[in-house]
Amino acid sequence: MRLGKVMAVFGTRPEAIKMAPVVRKLKEREDIETLVAVTAQHREMLDQALSLFEIKPDYDLDLMRAGQDLFSITCGVLSGLQEILKKEEPDLLLVHGDTTTTFAAALAAFYLHIPVGHVEAGLRTRNKYSPFPEEMNRTLTGSIADLHFAPTDKASDNLIAEAVALYKIWVTGNTVIDALLHTVRDGYVFGPEFSKVDFNKRLLVVTTHRRENWGEKMRQIYRALIDLTEEFTDIEVIFPVHKNPAVREIAYEMLGERAGFHLTEPLDYEPFANLLQASYLILTDSGGLQEEAPSLGKPVLVLRDTTERPEAIEAGTVKLVGTVYDHIYKEAKLLLSDESEYNKMARAVNPYGDGKAAERIVNIIADFLYVRKGAQ
Ligand code: UD1
Ligand code: UDP
Repeated sequence: MRLGKVMAVFGTRPEAIKMAPVVRKLKEREDIETLVAVTAQHREMLDQALSLFEIKPDYDLDLMRAGQDLFSITCGVLSGLQEILKKEEPDLLLVHGDTTTTFAAALAAFYLHIPVGHVEAGLRTRNKYSPFPEEMNRTLTGSIADLHFAPTDKASDNLIAEAVALYKIWVTGNTVIDALLHTVRDGYVFGPEFSKVDFNKRLLVVTTHRRENWGEKMRQIYRALIDLTEEFTDIEVIFPVHKNPAVREIAYEMLGERAGFHLTEPLDYEPFANLLQASYLILTDSGGLQEEAPSLGKPVLVLRDTTERPEAIEAGTVKLVGTVYDHIYKEAKLLLSDESEYNKMARAVNPYGDGKAAERIVNIIADFLYVRKGAQ
């Protein structure tokens, strides 16, 4: 029996990595027709993830423009999806997380009375400008969604506090763990882009891209890194630089030619996930890395003032260190020089799931489609 049609919509690297396990599981089912529409809010970084997970989109809005702003992405997603959704009339639109693609796609579905499923629902900082605009994107998506796939109990509690009905919330774990387990393996051989990296040294993996950190905050982060590499000669920093020009300009200006630093293009997920496994310490303002690193037993210093992912902080493997030079330098120095402090943080913990989140989500979607079909 055919249960119905699901359309997954996403546009950026993290959405693709975290939606891929769900799309792959959906496609295993013969009773569900699964379509993928990408907005390509990110172009190269999205395509890298699509090819690793062997996903071929049915629709591609090809929206990315150099220096795009939030207005143009929002309008582009809305108008681009209008015709596609009218033509395909999916029984469920699936979105992930908190990007502008996520919110605008959910809004497009709402305008056409199409139910929405939200993967990675319920993350909140309760500060509408931090992270910006993600906190508002996910809150607004949450008020449109009909099915909320919360990764943890805390995320579920956040939704309950917003009066989302209990029967619309499921705690599934985070699909990023599914993607990670699919990708990290023992004996991984790194490619030629790592030929200059000395794997006998302690590797610090760094990423930065948050809008609220652009400018002076990023400069303070990079200054702390420079001083750390000058003080500790047994460390090397690997920094895959986000494609956003606002990040690239400062990163290459301050770190491009420095000894101890390897600035690279954004890495494919496979080498990147295996690099996390080979690393000593991670410094990042990313959301996804705060979920991946704990399950690999790698300490993370989070270069942000707020986080919507408190679970690993409570477990003691992630620390929020902000964006002020002194604080970053001091906390990183402690972990580089005091083994017992390091060991306290370097424990594998798994607050984000067991790698079976996608399977749970797809079973819930199948039940939803079954009931919907019966009601029609
Ligand atoms: C976006 C999301 C953010 C998410 C992040 C993940 C919004 C508002 N922000 O932020 O929630 O955490 O992606 O990485 O939805 N660019 C390229 N090639 C790429 C990707 C980006 O050249 O593959 C450049 C383009 O010049 C583009 C710019 O980066 O204009 C900004 O991209 P955008 O999606 O607007 O912002 P992000 O900072 O990536
Ligand atoms: N990532 C990657 N290559 C890189 C840097 C990050 O594949 O060079 C992955 C990372 O493992 C995580 C995701 O991209 O799964 C996070 O993306 P990003 O930090 O851009 O977004 P956020 O998680 O903050 O939304």
